[in-house]
Amino acid sequence: MIPKIDRIFNSFDENNIFRDKSILQTNYQPKDILYRNQQIEQIASILAPVLRGEKTSNLFLYGKTGTGKTLSIQYIKDELLKRVKKDANFKLKIKYLNCKLKKISDTEYRILAEIIRKLGGSVPTTGLPTQAIYNQFIKIIDSEKQLIVLILDEIDQTVKKISNDFLYNLTRLNSELSKSQICLVGISNDLTFLDEIDPRVRSSLSEEEIVFPPYNALQLQEILNKRSQDVFKESVLQEGVIAKCAAFAAREHGDARRALDLLRIAGELAERDGSKKVLLKYIDDANSKIEQDKILDIVKSEPKQFQFVLYSIIRLIEKQENPIFTGEVYNFYQDLCDKNKLEVLTQRRISDIIQEFDMLGIINVRVISKGRGGRMREIRLAISRDLIRKSKEIIKNSLNYNI
Ligand SMILES: Nc1ncnc2c1ncn2[C@@H]1O[C@H](COP(=O)(O)OP(=O)(O)OP(=O)(O)O)[C@@H](O)[C@H]1O
Ligand SMILES: [Mg+2]
Repeated sequence: MIPKIDRIFNSFDENNIFRDKSILQTNYQPKDILYRNQQIEQIASILAPVLRGEKTSNLFLYGKTGTGKTLSIQYIKDELLKRVKKDANFKLKIKYLNCKLKKISDTEYRILAEIIRKLGGSVPTTGLPTQAIYNQFIKIIDSEKQLIVLILDEIDQTVKKISNDFLYNLTRLNSELSKSQICLVGISNDLTFLDEIDPRVRSSLSEEEIVFPPYNALQLQEILNKRSQDVFKESVLQEGVIAKCAAFAAREHGDARRALDLLRIAGELAERDGSKKVLLKYIDDANSKIEQDKILDIVKSEPKQFQFVLYSIIRLIEKQENPIFTGEVYNFYQDLCDKNKLEVLTQRRISDIIQEFDMLGIINVRVISKGRGGRMREIRLAISRDLIRKSKEIIKNSLNYNI
C-alpha cells in the first residue's frame, strides 16, 4: 500500500527531529574538549620543545575506546602548527596516521609508503623490496634539517597486521638520521599492547605515558549536553534522554563515542517512526542496534576458518536441541573443510577459536566435569534469532563455498 511510503517520506520532509545531525558524527571536531585538560596540558608540555626545533621524548597515549585520545591529539597538533614561527631555522612537520585504516597498514610497505606520501614524497604502490622503501623513507626524512612528529594512532594494529619489527625499526630510526630527528606519538586502546611487545620497543615508545581514563556518567552527560546544543530542534528530546544515553555509555566503560552514537541513532529511529519526539524507548532500540551491528561487524571481518567454525555451531544448534559440545563442532567443521577443500585446523586451534567467540559474546561456553577428570565444553548461542540469521547470510555470502 502506498500510504506507508507517504508517511515515511513526509516525516523526513517535515524533519521534526534534527537541526544539524553532523555535529553528532564522530569526525566532527567539537569546540570544547571537556574533562581532558590535564591530559592535554601534559601532552602539550612534553611536546612544546618541538616549537624550538628540539626532539622530545617519545610519547604513548592509552585509554579505552572513546575516551578522547584522537580528539585531544588532533587538537594539540593543530595548536602546535598554529604556533610554528615562519622565520624558524628548522622545519617542523607533524603527521597523523591512523594505522587501523585498511589499505594503509596491511603491510610494512603500505604504511611506509603512506608516511612517505604524507611527508611529500612519492612511491609506487607496490613493487619495491622492503629494504628499498626503508632507504627511501630515511632519505626523505633526512633530506633536510627537519623535525618530524609522527603520530601513529591505533598503533597496536601495526603489530597485529605487520610485526614487531616494524615498530622496532621505527624506534631505532633516529640513530640512522644525520640532519633530522623524529619523535613518535603512539596511541592505543588496547591496554595490554605494551606488555606484549619487545621490551626494547616498549621502553623506547613509552618514554612518557599518558592515560586517558574512562568518563563517568555525569561527565558523559555534560559532554552530550554541550555537543547536542545545536543538533536537535527545540524540545524534541523527552526528559531524561541525555541522562539515559550517558548511563548506557558509562556502563560501556565510559565511551563518549557510544554516548554520541546512542543519541544520534535514537534520533534517527524517532525520525523513521515519524515521531515528533525522541522518546526514552528509542535509546533502548538504538542500544540493541549498536550491539547487533558490532557483532555483525565481527562476523564479517573474521577469517574463513573462524567463519566455518561459527557456521558449524549455528547449523548444529539449528539441527538439534541445545546444548552442543566442542567435539561435535569439530566433526561438523572437519566435514565442511573437506567439502570445500580447505585446510583443517587442529582441535586445539578450534578450541581457541571457540573461546574467542565466547569472549566476544557470540556464544556462551560452560565447562562441565564428566568425572575422572574428564571435562566437556557445552556451547550455546548468545545472540538473537535475527542476528543468527544475518550472521549466516554474511558467512554464506563471504565464503562462496559449498555450505
Ligand atoms: N571530552 C570530550 N568532549 C567532547 N567530545 C568528546 C570528548 N571526548 C570524546 N569526545 C567525542 O567522542 C568521540 C570519540 O572520541 P575519540 O575519537 O577521541 O576517542 P578515542 O579515545 O580516540 O577512541 P578509540 O580508542 O576508539 O580511537 C568523538 O566523536 C569525540 O569527538
Ligand atoms: Mg581514536
